Amino acid sequence: MADKEKALRELAAAYGQEQVFQFWDRLDEAGRERLLSELESIDFPLMQRLTEEWVFNDPEVEHFQEIRPVSVIPKVDPTRSDCQDALEAGEAAFRAGEVGLFLVAGGQGTRLGFDGPKGAYPIGPVSQKSLFEFHAEKIHNLQNRYGCTLPWYIMVSDANGPATQAFFEEHAYFGLHPDQIQFLHQRMVPCVDDQGKFMLEAPDRLAKNPNGHGGCIPAMVENGVIKDARARGVKYLSYFQVDNWAVKVADPYFIGYHVQAQAQMASKNHRKHQPREAVGVHCLCDGEYRVIEYSELDLYPQLLETDAEGNVVYYAGNPAIHILSVDFIEETFNRFEQFPWHRAHKKVPYINEAGKLVKPDAPNAYKFETFVFDALRFIQHEPVALEIDPPGEYTPIKSYSGENSVEGAWATMREYWAKWLEKAGCPVPRDSEGRVSIAIEISPQFALSEAEFLEKTRDFIWPASGDIGIDKDGKLI
Ligand code: UTP
Repeated sequence: MADKEKALRELAAAYGQEQVFQFWDRLDEAGRERLLSELESIDFPLMQRLTEEWVFNDPEVEHFQEIRPVSVIPKVDPTRSDCQDALEAGEAAFRAGEVGLFLVAGGQGTRLGFDGPKGAYPIGPVSQKSLFEFHAEKIHNLQNRYGCTLPWYIMVSDANGPATQAFFEEHAYFGLHPDQIQFLHQRMVPCVDDQGKFMLEAPDRLAKNPNGHGGCIPAMVENGVIKDARARGVKYLSYFQVDNWAVKVADPYFIGYHVQAQAQMASKNHRKHQPREAVGVHCLCDGEYRVIEYSELDLYPQLLETDAEGNVVYYAGNPAIHILSVDFIEETFNRFEQFPWHRAHKKVPYINEAGKLVKPDAPNAYKFETFVFDALRFIQHEPVALEIDPPGEYTPIKSYSGENSVEGAWATMREYWAKWLEKAGCPVPRDSEGRVSIAIEISPQFALSEAEFLEKTRDFIWPASGDIGIDKDGKLI
């Protein structure tokens, strides 16, 4: 250990980070080992570059000669012939075992403040089922429909990996086969304070954060996902985020459009109705596909333009639902050095020189992250962009109330499901403003679409009052 300690002390000193050893004398053998192995995993040159670029300076704003809207396939309408063709191609990919699922669940979920992995959040308004269970039920539905097994790769981080795995074990993998599920850890990055110094969250531990959802690219290659996918014959990975309760985990239409276009990466888009809606914009910047974050819209004023009717010109909002071809993931991994990083100024607890834990009231540190949509800049073919309606596809859960919240998702989904129920002949009570006034929940294993729901509930006898929950077997709960 002495040699390792010496080498790492020299390395830390060379990058001005010797303070990470400040509690060394107080650490026992195990603590020292832990600290050294943390330091071994750090990419010091990268951290120096990020600190230089983002803490001591502001990175240069990118200027583009030309920004154009992306061309977007209109919302799916099953009567349209292009949709029927896409469905056929997507369904063929399922039946051939070419589809896999990639879930990113490594985030820290700080805004939600739930004590546990975000995916364990009991989102079911009637059943209290977790987000993970809802996603698993969607997988069951698709597997039953297409007679296939969908490998499910789940990215976690040091912040929530063991708790996530334990949750799956406690719930017997939600009835899926343990062999079809693989957990993989993304890399962690040290947080730095306003002077660019690494911080300690314990005497033997650096304050770190997962390297963003873009970290899925190296994580997939380094953890053998690509190898496993190839061995199973999987060509397309359907990427989704754990906090999007409504997401269609692998939408056959979307996959079909991707397959037909032989695309490298496909994205769903939802229409922005207001120029300043808090969502990134998918566009084409000097020939490269990009998502411009909403925090950067003022840098590119044309992105705020509206047409004569008041419609947003650059309307393709990015809800973070993608398909990535396995070959493209590998190609992107080989260029991951060129992946841009993003910075966030956040409140990060740390221990001070006296060894006391400080929980700051104001942002005190920088976190660095990569974003998956930045992979779009590496594609050579035109990407597939498909418009969706957010209800029934996009209900992100960032906090308990307010925008993008648990309460908001419940409200959206009860209105969405109420329409199915009413069409099926079930009375749904509404308040004086027409809003649904009961809790509604329909298991996605029972029905993923309105058509499937109507088909399966033909002989249902509906309750006269109260909340309505339907479980995976079609029983009222
Ligand atoms: P967010 O960026 O909304 O972050 O993640 P978060 O961790 O859920 O919440 P906050 O910002 O701390 O409140 C969007 C999706 O990307 C995943 C999250 O788990 C979520 O599914 N993610 C985010 C990762 O898998 N890894 C990361 O490093 C960051």
